[in-house]
Amino acid sequence: MSDTKSRLALVTGAAGTMGEAIARQLVADGHRVIALDLDAGRMSRLAGDLPGRIIPVGADISDAEALAEVYAGLLASEGPVEILVNNAGVLSNNKAVQTTPEEWRRIMSVNLDGAFYLSRLVLDDMRQARWGRIVNICSLGIKTGGLTAGTAYAASKGGLGVLTFSLARETAPFGVTVNGIAPGYVLTPMVTEQLTEDQRQKLLREIPVGRFCGADEVAHLVSYLAGPNAGFITGEIVDMNGGLHMD
Ligand SMILES: NC(=O)c1ccc[n+]([C@@H]2O[C@H](COP(=O)([O-])OP(=O)(O)OC[C@H]3O[C@@H](n4cnc5c(N)ncnc54)[C@H](O)[C@@H]3O)[C@@H](O)[C@H]2O)c1
Repeated sequence: MSDTKSRLALVTGAAGTMGEAIARQLVADGHRVIALDLDAGRMSRLAGDLPGRIIPVGADISDAEALAEVYAGLLASEGPVEILVNNAGVLSNNKAVQTTPEEWRRIMSVNLDGAFYLSRLVLDDMRQARWGRIVNICSLGIKTGGLTAGTAYAASKGGLGVLTFSLARETAPFGVTVNGIAPGYVLTPMVTEQLTEDQRQKLLREIPVGRFCGADEVAHLVSYLAGPNAGFITGEIVDMNGGLHMD
């Protein structure tokens, strides 16, 4: 089932730790990658390291109209996106009582709305091509209610999980798969800067494998789910939490 076809991928949040690792992995797999983040300039190192393979794009995924315009330009210049990785996300550690309506909307607008807007934009072409891959970066918080993460964050990622199921069901007959990854505690600034030293030490004692996850480990799973051998996997959300949560 392996095929070495070079595809056009789009990775959101590509200036972040996991997004960059995913973009680099997809390039290593032979694909061209549209690296999308709020500011295209933040991808200059990535684009410089991988000349001709990275197309840096600045866009706010929570702005449906602006995103549609950016996507129309990309369609004209690069062609249809065949692999979409909805990775961009914003964190909030506030629990319900501390979460203002504005914060709730901000978290939803990026983590859930943005993934929906982009999926909607790419799906027509994927269905026509009868091949496509969408991978949504969810979170362990889907299942735990958020151990350290807040209410809006966990709810937004829960919504992204359900969006994964819905899109998987409606696109399966067209050769499109839609899956999610639910990481818990990847070694990124979200973990190193947002948690206190006490929280970090407590988590390390609780995670059965005794360490945090590497961004490159998530990137390898994206690569597999986006690849030719994963065509029978759809509507799956793969846990990556070192055994912290087993179900
Ligand atoms: N780090 C973890 O432990 C962990 C665990 C579970 C899930 N996740 C999820 O993984 C993803 C990547 O996390 P990370 O740790 O690399 O975070 P990060 O903060 O390093 O990267 C997120 C990127 O998303 C971009 N972004 C934010 N809002 C955007 C918008 N409106 N439009 C376009 N881009 C936008 C940011 O600029 C940033 O570059 C996120 O969705 C996060 O929720 C992370």
